[in-house]
Amino acid sequence: MFESLKKYNSFHIDSIAKYFVTIENEQDLVPLQNNDSLVKSKKFILGGGANILFVDDFDGMILHSQINDLSIIEETSDYAIVQAGSGCKWDDLVEFALSNNLYGIENLISIPGSVGAAPVQNIGAYGVEQQDSFYSLDAFDLDTFKKTTFSKADCKFGYRDSFFKAPENNNKYFITQVRYKLSKREQLNCDYKDVKEAISKKGIKNLNAKILSQVISEIRNSKLPNLNEIGCAGSFFKNPFVSAEKAEELKSIYNDIPIYKNGDSYKTSAAYLIEKCGLKAYREGDAGVYDRHSLILINYGKASGRELFNLSKKVQNIVMEKIGIALECEAIIVESDKK
Ligand code: EPU
Repeated sequence: MFESLKKYNSFHIDSIAKYFVTIENEQDLVPLQNNDSLVKSKKFILGGGANILFVDDFDGMILHSQINDLSIIEETSDYAIVQAGSGCKWDDLVEFALSNNLYGIENLISIPGSVGAAPVQNIGAYGVEQQDSFYSLDAFDLDTFKKTTFSKADCKFGYRDSFFKAPENNNKYFITQVRYKLSKREQLNCDYKDVKEAISKKGIKNLNAKILSQVISEIRNSKLPNLNEIGCAGSFFKNPFVSAEKAEELKSIYNDIPIYKNGDSYKTSAAYLIEKCGLKAYREGDAGVYDRHSLILINYGKASGRELFNLSKKVQNIVMEKIGIALECEAIIVESDKK
């Protein structure tokens, strides 16, 4: 009863959870169906805590995966299926793939968080999303306690979105295992502007997946805070999609705005818009917008979850007032009065 969540979230917010349960294997889930506290209280499934803002204390049960197995379960001459427990660190999976000469997720190196959270958020970076290599996952329905295998189509992946983020599915499925189909052939994806530039600046001639992942890791380290030193949750907002009309309007105001066609609409940069609103490095007490990347909110020390939440609202309001764009949160906001 009553556990501090400080070490379980990368914002280092000292929220208190009423109940906290660690799941080390599937069998740990079985007795929970008779657990009154679980049945009656609200639940929150916590991965690595790298993308979460606990606004206040959590008056319910936190379920935290420590299912940590990681292995190749199937293999042909072309590919391997790697299975990882939901509690594994995502970056350990990337390193495992690289050290076994398996390719497809190398651009996703150094992303903080757990394997279980990766399909929920459909994590992505530097031109690659986890859905590109995703194979299947197993999850326990916490209402029926039945295990289901979800295919890629079942997961309904979108930009930082999946089936598991829909309100009716949120915190209903406890993911136990995730599988990725990784290629034995290197097919490098280095089209992302920053990646291309870094490769040419370094004069790299014999590029391979290991070198590419190092280059990407360096780019990340130069732009994103070190989570061991600074409290943050990666990108706090999603990059917005706008209509063709709005895209034209933005281009006429900001001639260097990063904006590109994406399906029927246009995707632009939330970091750019926040910066144009004069909010880069903006700070209220210990809650602030990162001075090297305005998509990131920072806990400079003792900011509370509520203070960071209020700052995020302020950023959203100012961007709406000045530019007319509604920024959606990428980070998952956990408020005690909400499920
Ligand atoms: N930019 C600014 N101001 C800033 C930072 C960036 O104007 O303070 C501009 C850059 O000049 C660039 C554009 O914004 O033209 C995009 O910047 P960046 O390449 O850093 O990517 P991003 O769109 O801000 C997304 C992901 C990141 C991912 C990077 C690289 C989202 C919400 N974020 O950020 O993912 O690492 O691309 O692929 O899609 C995360 O999800 O937590 C995350 C870090």
